[in-house]
Amino acid sequence: MTATTTTTTPNPDPSGSPGLSEPVGDPPLLEVRNLTVTYGGGADAVPAVRGVDLRVEAGQKLGIAGESGCGKSTLALALLRLLPPTAKLTGEILLDGEDVLTMKWGRLRAVRWAGASIVFQGAMHSLNAVHRVGDQIAEPILLHTKATPAAARKRAGELLEQVGLPAARALAYPHELSGGQRQRVMIAMALACDPRLIVADEPTTALDVMIQAQILRLIEQLVSDQNVGLIMISHDLAVLADTCDRLSVMYAGRVVEEGPARQVYADARHPYGKALSAAFPRIGDLSSRHAPRGLPGDPPDPAALPGGCTFHPRCPVALDVCATEDQELREAGAERRAACVLVDEPVSPGADDTRSTP
Ligand SMILES: Nc1ncnc2c1ncn2[C@@H]1O[C@H](COP(=O)(O)OP(=O)(O)O)[C@@H](O)[C@H]1O
Ligand code: SF4
Ligand SMILES: [Mg+2]
Repeated sequence: MTATTTTTTPNPDPSGSPGLSEPVGDPPLLEVRNLTVTYGGGADAVPAVRGVDLRVEAGQKLGIAGESGCGKSTLALALLRLLPPTAKLTGEILLDGEDVLTMKWGRLRAVRWAGASIVFQGAMHSLNAVHRVGDQIAEPILLHTKATPAAARKRAGELLEQVGLPAARALAYPHELSGGQRQRVMIAMALACDPRLIVADEPTTALDVMIQAQILRLIEQLVSDQNVGLIMISHDLAVLADTCDRLSVMYAGRVVEEGPARQVYADARHPYGKALSAAFPRIGDLSSRHAPRGLPGDPPDPAALPGGCTFHPRCPVALDVCATEDQELREAGAERRAACVLVDEPVSPGADDTRSTP
């Protein structure tokens, strides 16, 4: 994996639009511009992703957070055009400057492994139960490179070692491995063709907390060793804050907050970001894992979004205007943006708490 001339740290754009400024020199590894994804059409249309912008540089780790149903998986699948035919996409998904949405089929197939690859949640369901895991890792190598079967098997063994499993586990069937080991196999598969970008959709959600931490450290290590880009998706802001450089928080198909990961987790500017970080304590903080600090209510049905700020029915600090005025992302501090009317107002810390409308 070669390093690019782009930085491996969050983009220090003084305009306050981190990651979205015009590129200088090489294009970023991934740039998503105004992406929309709508399932179905007419009265049944489900606008699952509504105008998302993202940017990831080589070696950078971007976390995407949000509750179930806010469009995270749809976004992940859209990146490699893995959505069902009922999904209509608009916008641009530029991988090394090349638009995935307009790629010819042959090019897209190549890009799906060598350009970017996805690690899904639930390794048991993603692996083929009747094939040895080594053969499953070797398969994309055989399909997408000129490797001989013997070389592909050897590479599969190396990849297993890279993810912390003995090469001899190549002979195991998925049911012979633990959940954590299976997820390591999935990561080895994702690495098989040296992708430049890895998209990990809830890669540790099904695992217990200790194994979860091990897998996260492994992903972090691989990303920094190989200078690939990472998009890590989770409903758990604490997991993302521990692993990623930057965070984008999604709500109802949009990014409502973005910024340096630890800052967003520690001091979210959007009330939804605040609620998410309160709902998810730090990894290993077992005492507070079950604290009832979650947000009341459910995210809206994308087919029937509320007017104004889509978060207003659940927002503890909503103003009257929030029911009628849609809110765009705006500058919310250095390298930070948030889509909330309160961001524009110079309030002192804690003053938000007094703003609730009855
Ligand atoms: N294949 C599909 N057809 C229709 N609607 C879908 C499909 N997949 C997801 N959705 C809807 O799109 C919205 C976003 O889903 P998803 O991207 O899976 O969210 P998340 O990963 O954040 O939980 C949800 O309302 C979901 O019901
Ligand atoms: S715009 Fe209003 S409703 Fe939306 S998050 Fe901000 S305060 Fe809450
Ligand atoms: Mg999902």
